Amino acid sequence: MKKIKILNESWVDEIFEIEKKCFEYPWTKRFLKNEFENSYTEVYGLFVDEELIGFSIISLIYKYNLSHIKNFAVLPSKQNMGYGTFFLLNIHKILKKNKIKNIFLEVRISNERAIKLYRKFNYKIVEVLKNYYKNNNENAFRMWFNLEN
Ligand SMILES: CC(C)(COP(=O)(O)OP(=O)(O)OC[C@H]1O[C@@H](n2cnc3c(N)ncnc32)[C@H](O)[C@@H]1OP(=O)(O)O)[C@@H](O)C(=O)NCCC(=O)NCCS
Repeated sequence: MKKIKILNESWVDEIFEIEKKCFEYPWTKRFLKNEFENSYTEVYGLFVDEELIGFSIISLIYKYNLSHIKNFAVLPSKQNMGYGTFFLLNIHKILKKNKIKNIFLEVRISNERAIKLYRKFNYKIVEVLKNYYKNNNENAFRMWFNLEN
């Protein structure tokens, strides 16, 4: 059974474990912890049979009905099984309920899987951000999605 729940700081260790498995350049635990201290940031967890298999960190900029997906990941052992699609679809529903109209995010230009997922939902590349990732000077695509369409 799949479920999405809002996570609090007590989940930081589990999130950090997923983060390390998913990214070549993972965020530090301190960095992840800080996100829980931001009042405008929500952390969502994707649970399958009570096991946390994915998370997403999202800033809600209510003033502009805008949100920023800062992090989004599904455990490697659970990837390519439709969970990312389910998670993103349901994040869209939650954001819509919160009167959010637009979403933006950044993705490494080499991250074909994630780009494929976002394209599937019709996210559009609106900008190339040069050397956005300082760890390897990789460029990012900024992608934009209108929830009203
Ligand atoms: C990106 C990510 C969240 C996708 O999650 P997922 O559970 O694998 O997603 P899904 O199974 O729903 O697949 C979604 C789409 O991704 C693409 N995809 C997934 N796995 C793929 C693979 N092994 N090879 C190529 N494309 C793949 C497909 O287009 C797929 O759509 P389709 O099934 O309709 O063809 C996951 O790969 C991940 O956590 N990656 C590491 C962290 C990351 O890069 N996060 C994004 C940061 S911007």
